[in-house]
Amino acid sequence: MTGELSPIDKAKFVAAKRASEFVEPGMRVGLGTGSTAAWLVRCLGEKVRDDGLRFKGVPTSTRTAELARDVGIEVISLDEAKWLDLTIDGADEFDHELNLIKGGGGALLQEKIVATASDRMIVIADAAKRVEALGAFPLPVEVVPFGWQTTQALVEETLISMDVLGRESSLRMNGATPYVTDEGNHILDLHLQRIGNARQLALVINQMPGVVENGLFIDICDTVVIGYGDGRVVVKDINEGTEEEDRLDFVETDNLFADLD
Ligand code: A5P
Repeated sequence: MTGELSPIDKAKFVAAKRASEFVEPGMRVGLGTGSTAAWLVRCLGEKVRDDGLRFKGVPTSTRTAELARDVGIEVISLDEAKWLDLTIDGADEFDHELNLIKGGGGALLQEKIVATASDRMIVIADAAKRVEALGAFPLPVEVVPFGWQTTQALVEETLISMDVLGRESSLRMNGATPYVTDEGNHILDLHLQRIGNARQLALVINQMPGVVENGLFIDICDTVVIGYGDGRVVVKDINEGTEEEDRLDFVETDNLFADLD
């Protein structure tokens, strides 16, 4: 029940709930990954069940695909959809230009492919994700397992000439073994502290052999829906230059909250 949700979960929930209103009948919608995106999928599942909303969802991870099917959303692949009307996803950080760090949940590759193949990307986030400069959150970089230590050394060497504060990196682990993405790759987390030129860094990292993709999303996000623990929601659109605030009431619907872990 919502009464038991922490303020941060309430913030994620109201952001997701507000963003679910952007999904219209017949749309092809990219469904993000992570705890905020999971709220979105649950909210959309409720609309499918209770309001008869019909749309096709393209998940960005096996986790999201499973949840989407569970809540009754019609799931198709990106190749079936070809192009999407909208993608809604979480983020680890966003700045005032709506550039993002993503990949804390390990799904950055599919997330970037899906978001880039969308007319519009909406990010849903609690207010703590807003930053002056990207980089306090470690930047995930997906690398192929072959020669990953050599790739790591190359990345760290390249960081010397980049506008960043920290230059350490670590291999993401899953217990005692390296984390493996849906595509069978590993993730290096770059502890940069502060990124001065995110656009340049994203381009340089992706030029290295062994790197598959990085978690910087530059000029991809159009809108951010920011949730607060008291139910306030701010919708900021970078293209329109607008920022609107409203408030959502928590409605304790059994269907939505019953399946929480
Ligand atoms: C998943 O790979 C990430 O990009 C998530 O979107 C990001 O980590 C945000 O996750 P939360 O919504 O769980 O904070």
